[in-house]
Amino acid sequence: MAQVTIHVQPRPYQARIENGLLARAGALLAELLPQSSRVFVVTVSPVRRRWGAKLARSLAAAGFKPQIIQMPDGEMAKELRTIEKLAEKLVRLGADRKAVLIAFGGGVVGDVTGLLASLYMRGVELVQIPSTVLAQVDASVGGKTGVNLGAGKNLLGTFHQPRAVLIDPNLLRTLPNREFRGGLYEALKCGIIGDLDLFLRFEQKRAKILKRDPVELEGVIAQSVKLKAEVVSADEHEGGLRRVLNLGHTIGHALEAETGYRTLRHGEAVAWGLIAATSIALAVGRTDSVTAGRIADAVLGLGRLPELKVNPRKILARLQSDKKTQGGVVHFVLPREIGKVEVAADVPENVVIAVVEKLHRLSRGRMGKLDLSIDDF
Ligand SMILES: NC(=O)c1ccc[n+]([C@@H]2O[C@H](COP(=O)([O-])OP(=O)(O)OC[C@H]3O[C@@H](n4cnc5c(N)ncnc54)[C@H](O)[C@@H]3O)[C@@H](O)[C@H]2O)c1
Ligand SMILES: [Zn+2]
Repeated sequence: MAQVTIHVQPRPYQARIENGLLARAGALLAELLPQSSRVFVVTVSPVRRRWGAKLARSLAAAGFKPQIIQMPDGEMAKELRTIEKLAEKLVRLGADRKAVLIAFGGGVVGDVTGLLASLYMRGVELVQIPSTVLAQVDASVGGKTGVNLGAGKNLLGTFHQPRAVLIDPNLLRTLPNREFRGGLYEALKCGIIGDLDLFLRFEQKRAKILKRDPVELEGVIAQSVKLKAEVVSADEHEGGLRRVLNLGHTIGHALEAETGYRTLRHGEAVAWGLIAATSIALAVGRTDSVTAGRIADAVLGLGRLPELKVNPRKILARLQSDKKTQGGVVHFVLPREIGKVEVAADVPENVVIAVVEKLHRLSRGRMGKLDLSIDDF
């Protein structure tokens, strides 16, 4: 079993990664929590149907009497009303300040349950048992919680670190293919940011990863979590360092928003964002063409991405009004070499526009040979 410690205040916690861990969840939690704890599992129907009984059995065998609470599935449910309804339900079920909430699902369940745990009776314990690639490699670690507002995504939220994160890559067997691949781009991102070995896995074991080979998946997920944990441990509340995790997300978020969150899964937008950041890095002389080519091949090697229908100028306007923009200056995380990134605040606007135009052509298959260089300025 891989075990990763996340060093945060007031208490460090561990993420454990192992195939089959779900069956041992009860025993592991019994080591961490008093047996008398009232445990409430928040989940969604697709996860409950496939894996709920197994988790319930494991918790019961360890002496807990879990209550399962179902919330509506999907990003639309990531709203304040859901928190309120879940809280009312907790009250009806008699949950007090000693309650323990288990987030059992993808990133949506994790973010909602995390926020609920930080608010309910001014804060109760939280355990994350993530069930999508994205939640296993990213959302379940780091303590960010949140819901969306009409005005934008994740605008209401808190930091609430879980007591433990239990990651069972077996759960990914039932994940729809597009969700599965979408999460892999986030894992690949971790390799580019700071783990050459992880990146090499994608280059050398791609077929096995895509076939969901359990050993390969466990390795990919453990290494991604380790990278995220290192960054979060060094910068719990997003000072400067944690920004590197935004690699691929600056343009990725703008693409998602500009396409109305309909045509692209988050991970697919990040995939295009990774290619964009690489292309920008090449254009402004921060990386070389061999590195850029390797990154683009690794991204595109995971499968075909949806076509982009976006206006480059509108993307630029979105970047400039993004909540993370500081004083109108857009900060890009750019790859320098595999495993090393840097933050740049001096990317010219015409480079951004040229790169988005290039993505557009690339996504429509209009480029015979992959060429990320920009020669028009
Ligand atoms: N807190 C953070 O640091 C952080 C980081 C990244 C993303 N997020 C958030 O995560 C959310 C996206 O998460 P997601 O991509 O996991 O989407 P999701 O939670 O909506 O899950 C995707 C779909 O897969 C289904 N599903 C989940 N596990 C399954 C399984 N094992 N088998 C079959 N079906 C399964 C779900 O029911 C859902 O329909 C976004 O809201 C994003 O903002 C948070
Ligand atoms: Zn992401």
